[in-house]
Amino acid sequence: MRWAVQDRRLEREQRELVLGPAHRRWRDNSASENRRRWTEYDWSGRGEEWNASAEWRAALVEHVLERWIPADSAVLEIGPGGGRWSASLLARSSRLVLVDVSARPLELCRELFGADPRVEYVQSSGNDLPGVADASIDAVWSFDVLVHVAPADQAGYLDEIARVLVPGGIAVLHHADGRNRGQVPSRVGWRSPMSRGLFAALAAERGLTVECQFDSWGPNGRHDLSAFGDAITVCGR
Ligand SMILES: C[S@@+](CC[C@H](N)C(=O)[O-])C[C@H]1O[C@@H](n2cnc3c(N)ncnc32)[C@H](O)[C@@H]1O
Repeated sequence: MRWAVQDRRLEREQRELVLGPAHRRWRDNSASENRRRWTEYDWSGRGEEWNASAEWRAALVEHVLERWIPADSAVLEIGPGGGRWSASLLARSSRLVLVDVSARPLELCRELFGADPRVEYVQSSGNDLPGVADASIDAVWSFDVLVHVAPADQAGYLDEIARVLVPGGIAVLHHADGRNRGQVPSRVGWRSPMSRGLFAALAAERGLTVECQFDSWGPNGRHDLSAFGDAITVCGR
């Protein structure tokens, strides 16, 4: 009952495109909880256990990552985890900055890429990109991360993305899209509140231009984010 009331308040703010009190006072999906959860996580599968299928994963790389992340660029990934997308990003990077709230995923990525001089490792407070210079990054990628990050911290990352992107840079960001629109309830997927409309409004407030928003890709949109009702926003500076 309490959850239903809270979800209705969140939905109203999402319709009104405001990061209002229901979003700002959201206590779950905090940086400290994310740090605890992902430090303790069993990473032996390196996150590959979250792929809907091998085809789904390959199509996301081909039709989304390679479509939007320019070759030979300075790339920043928020929340690399076990490096599920990081090798594909590195193949397109002259420089790859991996940023995570937990040291554990950064250690795992160091095992994969440690000797590669193009890769840098940054531990964040959960909403910032410390030590990353203004206008130094061509492309930002974040998948399966902001869906678990509290709304105010998502807004904090948008502040930082607007700061670190070069003019003409691009960000590809996966986030939640409304409450309980997937095959399982939002709380079961530990989804943090957001919608594509509100995310676009927050990006625009920070001077970012929303290029497109989508929830499926590949031939006839065969692959999608319908399990949890998420979306991907591509925005440029
Ligand atoms: C579900 S895993 C996804 C990992 C990887 N992106 C993937 O798709 O396989 C979430 C990752 O985001 C990181 N993370 C969670 N909250 C974060 C935050 N506020 N800032 C940066 N990283 C965060 C976690 O430590 C973990 O590495």
